[in-house]
Amino acid sequence: MSLLECKEITRIFDPGTAAIKALSDVSMSVEEGEFVAIVGRSGSGKSTLLNVLGMLDAPDEGEVLFNGTDVRKMSEKEKSALRNKSFGYVFQSFFLEPEYTVYENVEMPLVIAGVKASERKERTKELIELVGLSERTDQKTKKLSGGEKQRTCIARALACKPAIVLADEPCGNLDSANSAEIMKLFRVIAEHGSAVLMVTHNEDDAAKADRILYMKDGCLRNEKQ
Ligand SMILES: Nc1ncnc2c1ncn2[C@@H]1O[C@H](COP(=O)(O)OP(=O)(O)O)[C@@H](O)[C@H]1O
Ligand SMILES: [Mg+2]
Repeated sequence: MSLLECKEITRIFDPGTAAIKALSDVSMSVEEGEFVAIVGRSGSGKSTLLNVLGMLDAPDEGEVLFNGTDVRKMSEKEKSALRNKSFGYVFQSFFLEPEYTVYENVEMPLVIAGVKASERKERTKELIELVGLSERTDQKTKKLSGGEKQRTCIARALACKPAIVLADEPCGNLDSANSAEIMKLFRVIAEHGSAVLMVTHNEDDAAKADRILYMKDGCLRNEKQ
């Protein structure tokens, strides 16, 4: 049984004019602690797939399974709990609270989860250290560099010890040196036991993963086409 799996997923957007088939019969799986990259050009369907796998969007056909359970069989409440507890989300454009410090941003999911203060403090510090930002702990995130912002997002995504981190173009706004640091961090995260599923248009970044899948025109393949 895989940690996260989808079977024959189809997603069609119908903006009124011509329907767009963003995903066509996509099947894939991610195992526990694995670092997987999906690479493909802009518009190939990567974000659509990640949103479906992350339960932020529902497919038109096919099924998504988390630890063997069909997501469609879960109530809204169960899905919401799973999103908060088992998934960590990392996006290209960060979505940090700019006026809050690194500490406050990383701590936020733990506050929402109702973790008690002493435990929260310990966990937050540990996460900030893991991503190498201890010296920036009390800095407002609007003052950080792009690489530091993304590392803050990753620490925040890890707060509730997710089973899997889903990253959509995490290095889209970063230079190659910072991107390489983020890839190293994903490797460390996978070694710590959270799987990482990253989608990217950048083949150099994807090459750092344990396994690469290729997306083209809504279809997913094991080999580059
Ligand atoms: N909400 C939406 N409404 C209409 N079309 C969409 C929507 N989201 C994505 N698409 C279309 O689906 C295709 C795949 O998009 P996307 O998954 O964002 O690709 P990628 O992330 O690889 O750049 C594109 O043709 C895009 O324009
Ligand atoms: Mg995208």
